[in-house]
Amino acid sequence: MPDSAGPGQPPAAPHQRVDVSALSLEQKASLLSGRDFWSTKALPEAGIGSVVMTDGPHGVRLQTGDADHLGLNRSAPATCFPPAVAVGSSWDPDVARRLGAAVGEEARALGVGVVLGPGVNIKRSPLCGRNFEYYSEDPLLSGRLGAAHVAGLQERGVGASVKHFAANNQETERMRISADVDERTLREIYLAAFEHIVRTAAPATVMCSYNRINGVYSSQNPWLLTTVLREEWGFTGAVVSDWGAVADRVAALEAGLDLQMPGNGGLGDAEVVQAVRDGRVDEAVVDAGAARAAALAGLAREPEGGIDVDAHHRLARELAAGCAVLLKNDAVLPLDGPQRLLVVGEFAVAPRFQGGGSSHISPTRVDLPLEAVRALAAECGGAVEYRQGFSLDGGKDSQALLIAAAAAAEGCDVAVVFAGLADQDESEGVDRTGIDLPAAQVGVIRAVAAAAPRTVVVLSNGGVVSLEGWHDEVDAILEGWLLGQAGGGALADLLFGVTNPSGRLAETIPLRLQDTPSYLNFPGELGHVRYGEGVMVGYRGFETAGRRVRYPFGHGLSYTTFSTSALTAAPTGPDSAVVSVRVTNTGTRAGGHVVQCYVAAGDGPVRRPERELRAFAKVFLEPGEEREIRLELDRRAFAFWDTPAGGWRVAGGRYRIQIGESAAWIVAEAGLQLDGDRPDTALDLDSTLGEWLSHPAVGPVLRQALAALAPGGTGDAGADLLEMISSMPMGRFLNFTGAAVPREQLEQLMALSRRA
Ligand code: BGC
Repeated sequence: MPDSAGPGQPPAAPHQRVDVSALSLEQKASLLSGRDFWSTKALPEAGIGSVVMTDGPHGVRLQTGDADHLGLNRSAPATCFPPAVAVGSSWDPDVARRLGAAVGEEARALGVGVVLGPGVNIKRSPLCGRNFEYYSEDPLLSGRLGAAHVAGLQERGVGASVKHFAANNQETERMRISADVDERTLREIYLAAFEHIVRTAAPATVMCSYNRINGVYSSQNPWLLTTVLREEWGFTGAVVSDWGAVADRVAALEAGLDLQMPGNGGLGDAEVVQAVRDGRVDEAVVDAGAARAAALAGLAREPEGGIDVDAHHRLARELAAGCAVLLKNDAVLPLDGPQRLLVVGEFAVAPRFQGGGSSHISPTRVDLPLEAVRALAAECGGAVEYRQGFSLDGGKDSQALLIAAAAAAEGCDVAVVFAGLADQDESEGVDRTGIDLPAAQVGVIRAVAAAAPRTVVVLSNGGVVSLEGWHDEVDAILEGWLLGQAGGGALADLLFGVTNPSGRLAETIPLRLQDTPSYLNFPGELGHVRYGEGVMVGYRGFETAGRRVRYPFGHGLSYTTFSTSALTAAPTGPDSAVVSVRVTNTGTRAGGHVVQCYVAAGDGPVRRPERELRAFAKVFLEPGEEREIRLELDRRAFAFWDTPAGGWRVAGGRYRIQIGESAAWIVAEAGLQLDGDRPDTALDLDSTLGEWLSHPAVGPVLRQALAALAPGGTGDAGADLLEMISSMPMGRFLNFTGAAVPREQLEQLMALSRRA
């Protein structure tokens, strides 16, 4: 059976319809905000229960004591699975789905009805402080992984809250910044992942973002919350505010925001009641919002108790191993045989495995990389020494630590340096100001690499870090991102080849921060951030500008090798195609490979990125095994958002279907001719003379009419003249020529153009 990746049928949303017509205005309004920080209000007399919502999304953050949304206070122990930054690099919807399902099981056990997430905002800049909570710089990858997470969670009867809707791509001024984005960019880049998830996975809730979009708060943006989300995409769940995102409760309700969180003692509800009494708001608007908020009560539950903590820890380790990305490997990994290993770096004993802020989970346990490395080294008869190398809080003599690590490196076979970003280096609420590793760590990496025969660097970081200044001095780099509580074990599995690395970069690693497409417009000024790079975000920008990067989007190595062959692409209609490609594991180990299918659009009415990821599939193959992979490319794989027309449009013409090892390395290409959409042929007085003359039905007639008018016919000079004035709108041409073409004839030609 060939693998295939196509859109599925949306499952029913996990909530019920509730009739609120018998309730009083006050009762209905009371349903529109939370009871407290984490739960909705119950109306027992109407059979409406209270539902508990908590963060995640890579674990359950149920606070039983003091509540906060900044990750400050304790929460009940729960398995901390890999955060989104890691899941993004898995390129594996199965990882996201299994993770979502496991979080769903833990939520049920704790009596939680909605787990807030996944976060599917696009990584517009490597500096965004919350990039560790987001999947990718690419909307297709983000959307597919987000949909799988939602499906897994909701299959367990727990609701998701897809966030932060929308254009929340930075932390600077996050509660009031206006993201100034043109509509094509919004549709193609910043809304696309949400759209896919809403259409295919029916999330119980969508959480609106704090920021404004083009001057209007997301929380009170009718275009966003009603026109696009409900009317165009068919969302039937409840819109929940981000915690504290509501500025004007009445405007928010009218825009389509159902549930204000957290509760504010009924203040917002009273404003709604007053607005109805004053005749400023139609009660039907309250009814609709209250019904959607009340429907969440279908997710209310009592704690069911008991999860298999060990099984979930094992799952967390397995999933994490599928997420890390082997960036570089000059024949040093996997580690095997009885080697003398030197482990360096505080992260080996105090691992960084999740980010700070609202998604912070209290783990059930934590794997220490050093212990996991020791256990696997012992199985190979090897020995492990450890040196701290650097101190994360700067509390010790860093020069002495460096010297001790370098001295130990001289006596080892392989040094493994665990480097990365500490908690204080990145967090919700603040953006980073640079992408360099702390200087002390760079110093240690270089000193160890100079002394050790071979050096491996293992990175733990939520946002991209630069590899410059030390990349060429080490033999291997394993990018572990933040891998969750079992990340230490997973990293050891990867280093020793217990698991074959199969992650691929979900975001570009640039040579310089200044090269990133959003650089000049991040994080904005005077309350506005202009998305000046348009659709050229991440690899779209790098590839289109031909700008070199350290490692491109999609890059990742394996301990085996794969070949790609027999690529075919055939139209399945005027605006869709099917692609088939054979993948073979040509190496000696079983491993996972990601088939990345990019579409390169030819010249068209709008500037397109050099190539765009339009389908992918992750396959696991035994040595020598081969598989045909079939990928459906639907209309959206070829479409651009036609802003003047207000819709998606597929231009007819030639497309190139490319299979890449990354966005920068294409290994197979096939051409494809598509008819595309029927062009809009209607002409009017604003259409240029050129458009009139090139119109298939009208052009010849008009040429004749003009030739007849010109003394002695148009001749060559006439043709040249027409060329020169071809950009002139017909109306203006008529003014200049004293109505060269009579009005009546023009009307006939316009009618003809509409029929063509
Ligand atoms: C964050 C959300 C989170 C909420 C509740 C907000 O500050 O932006 O992602 O779900 O708090 O903790």
